[in-house]
Amino acid sequence: MEAVSADRRAVAGDIMTAEPGALRAPRTPVIELAGITKTYGSGDTEVQALRGIDMVIERGDYVAIMGASGSGKSTLMNIIGALDVATAGHYALDGIDIDDLDEGALSIVRNRKIGFIFQSFNLIPRTSALSNVELPLVYRGVGRRERRQRAIDALTAVGLEDRMHHQPNELSGGQQQRVAVARALVAEPSLLLADEPTGNLDSRSTGDVLDLMGRLHDQGRTIVMITHEDDVAAHAGRVVTLIDGLISEDRRNPA
Ligand SMILES: Nc1ncnc2c1ncn2[C@@H]1O[C@H](COP(=O)(O)OP(=O)(O)O)[C@@H](O)[C@H]1O
Ligand SMILES: [Mg+2]
Repeated sequence: MEAVSADRRAVAGDIMTAEPGALRAPRTPVIELAGITKTYGSGDTEVQALRGIDMVIERGDYVAIMGASGSGKSTLMNIIGALDVATAGHYALDGIDIDDLDEGALSIVRNRKIGFIFQSFNLIPRTSALSNVELPLVYRGVGRRERRQRAIDALTAVGLEDRMHHQPNELSGGQQQRVAVARALVAEPSLLLADEPTGNLDSRSTGDVLDLMGRLHDQGRTIVMITHEDDVAAHAGRVVTLIDGLISEDRRNPA
């Protein structure tokens, strides 16, 4: 037991101190899931939300995860996002085994490896777009000048260089989501993980955000996007469909 926990501390320490990209082994897939199950509750109230998920996602892939309400999408997203751990099975993110990591180590993995994009944007109110985008770099201890420059670059990449000093309530929904995408990108994560990113947007803003995701994919980013809409999933390169906690279909969209 002692040796195992010492190993885990060492892994967490390595992630903490390594330069960005240093732990990224280019030949390993970004995501490897094998035999992943997730059971909530026990006895009469037991729910098997995931019943054996095997999935490999290669660097640069753009994957939509689809399925009806209750099929296990959020559960799978929480596991991929290192927000929760599986009941059984194996998960490696960027070549790092994250099964059974404790909460401290999981939070380091999340901060280093994943850029989250949520349906409700989750921007900090009464705070400029620039400061919102800088935030992940604050947590990583990046100095003020570099932080500012990287946030400006990320906002420019999403086409919002002229809105940097606006607060979320001064921006449209589509613009707010583009700020959230800039915030997800700014720390150069291995994975962009989006949960219904267009769920709160009108059709024009949906188009803008999907165009942006497409450009990021063209630049080589790895994207996993949860959606229940076929026309949104049509923008991804690959569509994985869940039924009752199992993968029912895994196909490539025509290029
Ligand atoms: N925290 C939880 N406790 C108990 N059951 C849960 C919990 N979260 C999800 N479930 C159940 O797990 C199944 C999958 O849920 P979820 O992953 O949220 O599906 P989806 O996101 O596709 O709607 C559902 O039956 C849901 O009721
Ligand atoms: Mg859900």
